[in-house]
Amino acid sequence: AIQRTLSIIKPDAVAKNVIGQIIARFEGAGLKVVAGRLVHLSAAEAGQFYAVHKERPFFKDLVEFMISGPVFVQVLEGEDAIAKNRDLMGATDPKKAEPGTIRADFAESIDANAVHGSDAPETAAVEIAFFFPGMNVYSR
Ligand code: CMP
Repeated sequence: AIQRTLSIIKPDAVAKNVIGQIIARFEGAGLKVVAGRLVHLSAAEAGQFYAVHKERPFFKDLVEFMISGPVFVQVLEGEDAIAKNRDLMGATDPKKAEPGTIRADFAESIDANAVHGSDAPETAAVEIAFFFPGMNVYSR
């Protein structure tokens, strides 16, 4: 089925100037960018976005990292977009990511891991609404 998923190009990848290279991988796999912008999150916004991880030991470091610079947030649309995006990203820990995946090629560590992608349709809907409320999504 055609799905939408929320993708974030994290501060490490934005700082490396590889936004375009990462988007090219999504486009090459048949996903379309139907919304997108740069945003420098506040601690409150990053904490709200990652609220499900609030009790995890890495939460504080995660929030600090996500506000260390601007991120590129985007909505990807296409056939099986959620799983396709996760396949393109590779494992959360870049050391475990398959060769040729975004995290294997661009990420340094489990914290600075280049990209985030929604993990299920329910979270995708919540995450897309968080960054793109209303009409700022353009199917084409
Ligand atoms: P992301 O997909 O953005 O979701 C939560 C993030 O927490 C994850 O990517 C990692 O960058 C970060 N993180 C740090 N340590 C861990 C861990 N032990 N398990 C899962 N995620 C972690």
